[in-house]
Amino acid sequence: MRLANNPAFVVNDGILAFGGVPAGEVMAQARPPFFVLVPERARENCRAFAEVASGTFPGARSFYSLKTSMQPALLRAVASAGFGAQAVSAREFDLALAAGFPARDIMVDGTYRDAGTYDLLARHDDLLFVESWAGNIAPLDDACNRNGNTARLGLRFRFPKRGNRLGFSASDGAAMAALGDALSACRHLTPCMLACHPGSQVQDPRAYATACGALLEAQDALEEGHGVAFRAPIMLDLGGGFPEPEMATAGFLHEVMAAIKDTITASHDLSRYSVCFEPGRYIAGDAGALVATMLHVFNDDAGNRWALLDIGMDVLTRFANSHYRFFSLEHPDSAHGTPISFQGRVPTEQDVFGKGVHFVKDAVAGEHVLLLNCGAYSTTFSMRFSFEQPPTVVVDAGKCTFEPTALPR
Ligand SMILES: Cc1ncc(COP(=O)(O)O)c(C=O)c1O
Repeated sequence: MRLANNPAFVVNDGILAFGGVPAGEVMAQARPPFFVLVPERARENCRAFAEVASGTFPGARSFYSLKTSMQPALLRAVASAGFGAQAVSAREFDLALAAGFPARDIMVDGTYRDAGTYDLLARHDDLLFVESWAGNIAPLDDACNRNGNTARLGLRFRFPKRGNRLGFSASDGAAMAALGDALSACRHLTPCMLACHPGSQVQDPRAYATACGALLEAQDALEEGHGVAFRAPIMLDLGGGFPEPEMATAGFLHEVMAAIKDTITASHDLSRYSVCFEPGRYIAGDAGALVATMLHVFNDDAGNRWALLDIGMDVLTRFANSHYRFFSLEHPDSAHGTPISFQGRVPTEQDVFGKGVHFVKDAVAGEHVLLLNCGAYSTTFSMRFSFEQPPTVVVDAGKCTFEPTALPR
């Protein structure tokens, strides 16, 4: 039986296994709390995504979004699957390089540039830089000039939704004119990509059609209105935003690809384009889990059942917005139909996981909770509380190894 339909976490004859290794063996080597990472699950997710994308768009490329998780074993798995990487800082770039991504397959993206980002141009020729600000284009061109290098240039456009503000706006004529001026002054940058990320946990395949439409509109405006020449084939980068594979099934991904293809062919010549993506959560989310201990089981004044865990929002940040699933480690195949809420370890009533989620009837202090879907945005977004962070147990090819959990400095 798969837990949450995840082949990396299964129960057979009452024995729970992570990536093929019995949980008892892992528990004998590691003391909770700890993360579990199954790199094979990430490799499978890469294969599944690439198969669907290249089925519709031969040669489609994917750039794994490092901010989702920078765990070295995960990065090595994704690099070995032939993905590129998306880095938003020099530090992410170096982690990707160390994991085996070739420099030219690491897209330098993000809304914020520091000196370290521009220094990358001194170290590597022909990098792919994705810019969101017209004011950053001249400094980028200058940095290339100083270092005697060139760079490929992507332009990030905002997804057309009320309130969105990051990236260029394809429908803002003045902003497009400023962008056109900035581009025409460049000597060392080759525009080759237009990018638009439709958001997080996207449920509607038509969002990708909307993103694609915005990019085509921007391309037309820049080419026809401002004389910008894009290198062929023009890369259309439709971003990430795919939920975990339990929800983003192959059927869903096929619908996404069809929606993009229909949008391009309705008004443009498909042969002018190559298509790419920046998935994060889809690749890493269900490759990671966390084992935590129920320290106290108690009731609140309304009689609701709670358990205090030895992890909290300092370990799994609220920003993750992940679809956590909770299982009893000791009784994984018992019915999980009785509500419980989990209080985290940070001393505030706000540190709550899974309010009223279904769990086993007998929650016992000292027993353990297996949280699935902890592989995305757990460790990478801010965590500044004073407790020790849990280590990561990497379960691969039948063996467990330990890695410190990769944290931002
Ligand atoms: C520009 C961009 N690309 C890709 C991603 C990855 O998104 P996801 O993990 O939802 O696939 C993000 C996430 O915030 C993003 O901002």
